[in-house]
Amino acid sequence: MHDFFPGLAGIPAAKSSISFVDGHEGILEYRGIRIEELAEHSSFLETAFLLLFNHLPTNFELDQFTRNIFHHRRIKYRIIDLLKSLPEQGHPMDALQAAVAALGMFYPVHDVREETTRYLTAIRLIAKLPTIVAAFARLRRGDEPIPPRDDLTYAENFLYMLTEQVPDLALTKIFDVCLILHAEHTMNASTFSGMVTASTLAAPYTVISSSIGTLEGPLHGGANEAVVHMLEEINSEKDIPLFVEDKLSKKEKIMGFGHRIYKVKDPRAIVMQKFAQQLDNPNDTRSLYTLARALEREMESQVGPKGIRPNIDFYSGIIYHRMGIETDLFTPIFAMARVAGWLAHCFEQYQENHLFRPDQIYDGPHRRPYQPIEERIKGQCEE
Ligand code: CMC
Repeated sequence: MHDFFPGLAGIPAAKSSISFVDGHEGILEYRGIRIEELAEHSSFLETAFLLLFNHLPTNFELDQFTRNIFHHRRIKYRIIDLLKSLPEQGHPMDALQAAVAALGMFYPVHDVREETTRYLTAIRLIAKLPTIVAAFARLRRGDEPIPPRDDLTYAENFLYMLTEQVPDLALTKIFDVCLILHAEHTMNASTFSGMVTASTLAAPYTVISSSIGTLEGPLHGGANEAVVHMLEEINSEKDIPLFVEDKLSKKEKIMGFGHRIYKVKDPRAIVMQKFAQQLDNPNDTRSLYTLARALEREMESQVGPKGIRPNIDFYSGIIYHRMGIETDLFTPIFAMARVAGWLAHCFEQYQENHLFRPDQIYDGPHRRPYQPIEERIKGQCEE
């Protein structure tokens, strides 16, 4: 009889040199570099390069990488037609997953281990995800997608394709750092599901569409959206103690808190919180940031000692909300950033591939007789 570890908690599923997390000290490193340093000095594209190629790029390498990404940002009109044909009330994560899966049909991959193909698929995916997210956001409200602009940075261009306005430098920097902080996070659920898909030697487009599907749920990337809905439900600060008590007594989760690895406050949440505070309007009587701070204090007193503390999703949604971004686009934005980490893991998996095929502990019946249909009684077949 094997031991059983629900959710594979604590079971290493791979060896990796992409990122490192210490959940007790609150440390996260990408390729050995602390995220706080990257947040201060790097850009999303430079960080993506670091994750993919295991070193910080030279000027020449970064320039070439950026130019390649910019060159591949447009999406085929048939992808736009596909997005047009989806229900406008459908979730943009589903639209993104469908469009990414469709990319694989336009750019077939014959050998996933071939280096040039790998490079080109990585470039295409990092380049096209923002265009798809912005295009669906516009199409669903009846507007034409806005083509990317080469004179804008990666972050600026996404916000421009979404809003038709070039954001100011401060907002662009905040958004870019949000992308850096979301770019990678060791063996999380969406990375693992992508690696399982990669281990069958499926193409990167299929791998990334698996990861997007896994990211969507509220226990993972979907939490940023759920946090804003939750805060909007709370009328005022004075309702918070009761709100928390009520949720905890019903064994319901408070969104944006808790983490499988972090027992202290997520280091990404610390950086995010500074931005949320920077963007907050203290005169706003419905300030989500003020509510969030009060909720954090209450949670600390009630469940902090159990190691349940804010994670990245607690403050990221508040930032995007203040930037005027629609709530259901928060998780697709997470995917736009995480694609860099997913690809790095996908390529690492191809390199040292071993098909993921875990075991199970069967606890069903054996030697059950086959019952002819006329002898079956209601209830038995519903078992
Ligand atoms: N609110 C209330 N109680 C919680 C929470 C929470 N947010 N998180 C964990 N707990 C409690 C849980 O009820 C359980 O209590 P008990 O031991 O009394 O039964 C205990 O803590 C362990 O929880 P678990 O769900 O078994 O632990 P896990 O390691 O599977 O949890 C988690 C990780 C992220 C799924 C969970 O903390 C959670 O559901 N949080 C809310 C959703 C969320 O914010 N997700 C974003 C995660 S970080 C970014 C990302 O991955 O996208």
